[in-house]
Amino acid sequence: MNKTKVIAVANQKGGVGKSTTVYNLGAGLILEGKKVLLVDVDPQGDLSKMLGCRKPHELPITLTNALNDVVAGAKIDGNAEIMHHNEGFDFIPANRTLSAVEVGLVNVMSRETVLKRYLDGIKGNYDYVLLDCRPSLGMLVINALSASDYVLIPVQADYLAAEDMTELVGTVQNIKRQINPGLKIGGVFLTMVNDTRFRKDIAAGVKENFGKRLPVLNTAIPATVRLAEISTVDKSIFLHEPKGRAAAAYRNLTKEVLQIDEKQRRKPADLDR
Ligand SMILES: Nc1ncnc2c1ncn2[C@@H]1O[C@H](COP(=O)(O)OP(=O)(O)OP(=O)(O)O)[C@@H](O)[C@H]1O
Ligand SMILES: [Mg+2]
Repeated sequence: MNKTKVIAVANQKGGVGKSTTVYNLGAGLILEGKKVLLVDVDPQGDLSKMLGCRKPHELPITLTNALNDVVAGAKIDGNAEIMHHNEGFDFIPANRTLSAVEVGLVNVMSRETVLKRYLDGIKGNYDYVLLDCRPSLGMLVINALSASDYVLIPVQADYLAAEDMTELVGTVQNIKRQINPGLKIGGVFLTMVNDTRFRKDIAAGVKENFGKRLPVLNTAIPATVRLAEISTVDKSIFLHEPKGRAAAAYRNLTKEVLQIDEKQRRKPADLDR
């Protein structure tokens, strides 16, 4: 088996489609025959809810337990935090207790790499591990980036927040320099795109704004109620509307993610410029 790829889906702006992307990209990678683990690294537990844990706050065992064990130096056995989804991937749920972990990390040695140390112990079972980040640049996101090979950045089409991007890219740059030299930006891609003509302008805008420094993926995820519905129907877009535009877009994103390695070898993102 090839080396596991850990991919953080991050943007500190809220509601840009991070959790929706983690679910559908995960399901897309399963359809490509990969072994996949999704990790909810957000105390809101949105991904956990999408995956059928309607009340994540009532779950007794979540990512919180796993991270606390790492901090305590306890030996983890059994991995009861890992759940299986009927679409074929495993996932680790989160709930608001993860906020306390984040706050507590302030006093912990090597606090940036707690999630990495946990994942290092389990990721060998998977081809891809996708991390759903909370909308911030706090310690949980720093942990996610420190544990990742790549970061994927969804950008909401009608909100080209160049300043937010600068901050996020700056954080990635710092983590690359100080903690995780292997971290790369896998790509920026548009989500919630309304109209095809408009999409071309936006895509051009993204390329103009970021394209010189960042890889911009060709996939644009359309704005569609079908994607908003997946959190209530307990199905990824590939089961919910397999022939629709959104499924086609996530299929495309999956293919691009599978090709990231090859692309990076040809033209690595130059973060130091
Ligand atoms: N392409 C889309 N078209 C329409 N609605 C979408 C699309 N993608 C996501 N949504 C909906 O938009 C909302 C925000 O999406 P999501 O939760 O994936 O974003 P997020 O970036 O993870 O948010 P947060 O920053 O709060 O974690 C959800 O209600 C989701 O169902
Ligand atoms: Mg989310």
